[in-house]
Amino acid sequence: MTPARVLAGPPAADALLSDVAARAARLPRPPHLAMVRLGDDPASVSYVRGKDRRAREVGLGSAVYALPETTPQAELLALIARLNADDAVSGILVQLPLPAHVSEQAVLHAIDPRKDVDGFHPLNVGELWAGRPTLIPCTPAGILYLLDLYGLPVAGQRAVVVGRSPIVGRPTAALLLARDATVTLAHSRTRDLGAVTREADLLVVAVGQPHLITPEMVRPGATVIDVGINRVPGGPGGKAHLTGDVHPDVAGVAGAITPVPGGVGPLTIAALLANTVTAAEMQAG
Ligand code: GUN
Repeated sequence: MTPARVLAGPPAADALLSDVAARAARLPRPPHLAMVRLGDDPASVSYVRGKDRRAREVGLGSAVYALPETTPQAELLALIARLNADDAVSGILVQLPLPAHVSEQAVLHAIDPRKDVDGFHPLNVGELWAGRPTLIPCTPAGILYLLDLYGLPVAGQRAVVVGRSPIVGRPTAALLLARDATVTLAHSRTRDLGAVTREADLLVVAVGQPHLITPEMVRPGATVIDVGINRVPGGPGGKAHLTGDVHPDVAGVAGAITPVPGGVGPLTIAALLANTVTAAEMQAG
């Protein structure tokens, strides 16, 4: 069997970012992304910094509101209300996870759906499941962009999504359905997962379990999208390294596969900035 075609994320992200820059330049003023984070969780600090830098690189305005971990929920909601009312702000992102004293649901409901660049507001979630994707969660949007760019078919394909998180698995299933795939959503309670995943022409895995998917669980020639980013020990020099939810030997069976790192990851930020431009376009009428 010939080894799988490698679906590299960085060139796809660059293609999407140049499209974002071109669309942003056509607007009367640069789209502006407001990001809010509470506390100093190192992963959140690093993610938000990356989004801020990329936004500026493609000509978007960006502001980060770094609030103390102890910020009362009412204060966070007041900031969101101000950003909702500010015509200069195109998109609002509140970095998750939030501290335990803040209700994630209250925060996500408070963001103006037209500025909801994460696509987490129930109105946008509902539109997506109704088959009218508008502002779509960033990782699923990035996955579809990658498939389209590499010319991989979606309509009519048997798609299996493993993982039902509100950020990746569920919206990916909804988006594939909106694009006319035949979709199965598998999860931790699925019986005989391998029998289900072997049915897939297109397999998307987003569970956060290193090497859950092994070669015998994959149909020869299938397209495999690995969303897992797991930090495991045993890299070069004994350091931790990143690995996916899909075992590397799957590359010997699949027709096409995303690497980890360097697969879906880079597309997520690009998709966020694309959503920010989409939001600005909608607001410009
Ligand atoms: N934390 C982890 N992923 C995400 C995401 O896509 N959006 C936000 N806001 N927070 C996250």
